[in-house]
Amino acid sequence: MRAAVVHRHGEPEELGFEAAFTDPTPAPGEVVIKVGACSLNYHDVFTRRGMPGIKVPMPIIMGLDLAGEVAELGPGVEGWSIGDRVLVDPTDWEDGTLMGETRHGGLAEYCAVNARQLIRLDDRVSFADAAALPVAYGTAHRMMITNGRIAAGEKIVVLGASGGVGTCCVLLAKLAGAEVVACASSPAKLDRLAAMGADHLVNYVEEDWVAWVRSHYGRPTRLRAEGGVDVVVNFTGGDTWAKSLRALRLGGRMLTCGATAGYDPKTDIRYIWTYELDIKGSNGWRREDLTGLLDLVADGRLKPEIDSILPLEEAREGVRLLEDREVMGKVIIQP
Ligand SMILES: NC(=O)c1ccc[n+]([C@@H]2O[C@H](COP(=O)([O-])OP(=O)(O)OC[C@H]3O[C@@H](n4cnc5c(N)ncnc54)[C@H](OP(=O)(O)O)[C@@H]3O)[C@@H](O)[C@H]2O)c1
Repeated sequence: MRAAVVHRHGEPEELGFEAAFTDPTPAPGEVVIKVGACSLNYHDVFTRRGMPGIKVPMPIIMGLDLAGEVAELGPGVEGWSIGDRVLVDPTDWEDGTLMGETRHGGLAEYCAVNARQLIRLDDRVSFADAAALPVAYGTAHRMMITNGRIAAGEKIVVLGASGGVGTCCVLLAKLAGAEVVACASSPAKLDRLAAMGADHLVNYVEEDWVAWVRSHYGRPTRLRAEGGVDVVVNFTGGDTWAKSLRALRLGGRMLTCGATAGYDPKTDIRYIWTYELDIKGSNGWRREDLTGLLDLVADGRLKPEIDSILPLEEAREGVRLLEDREVMGKVIIQP
């Protein structure tokens, strides 16, 4: 089969295209999926580069998020038929394996997966929209809704609003009735975020976004929940971390699920106690985050923001778009 394959960790060129990679065969309890769409995540950049403490079996076909049709049933599989339309939950919640990291993922024509990871797909949801969901949207859903409990009327700053997780945070915050300040690094990205419904736009390359928050909503005060914003969504880390503490109101929440620009930033503990801040982490999604999102998409209430759809041969270019911060939403690979 055709596949995008990494043979060793390293630079972008380590992700290569192969026209005759060995077809998968389903082990007991597994099915083979004919991949309809696979979405890329910044996680794929980390997997290709190599992450401390994570052992990736080589060669590896990356791609955590995939949707497609059941093409073959392994021994003992019940309840599924050839041709069923499915989304794959990237995590096997029984053995902890992760698609595209500890076993082959969706950047290929076919992919073997444990049947317990399958979620039946409504005909109203395309493979591309479904594949856009699990890692980025599932985690955003857990961070914003399940754990973050965002509410109507809250003022919410989303840093990195243009990426996979970020666009979903904007969409979910608007669905919840919140007032959204979307921060991104270019006018073109901000135009798209405005079209998605963001209420305020800040180009944080040209403008200090904390100064914007303080001039727009007032300086936070330690006497009353006035000034600043209710929530900052920060999965960027690095030098944005300590700054974010200064934008939150008394009792405000910082929601995080990642650290694209660095996981051990400088902090300023004084703001955490003085303003009684709540810092809430979210790691990945649970099955109910994915089914909740699929319902929203099927009902037409949520439309995943898709940057581009590329053929399998251009998987390396797709990952480059993420690495070079050229994305606005999700990059989809269609084998
Ligand atoms: N814990 C979990 O389970 C989990 C799940 C999903 C994602 N994550 C993490 O969440 C983060 C976002 O993931 P994603 O897939 O949404 O990534 P993405 O699509 O590449 O989006 C990240 C956005 O962050 C902004 N950014 C700011 N500083 C950056 C930097 N130094 N390098 C690259 N981008 C930077 C970019 O927008 P601008 O150029 O406009 O600033 C970019 O669009 C990653 O760190 C990822 O590992 C964690």
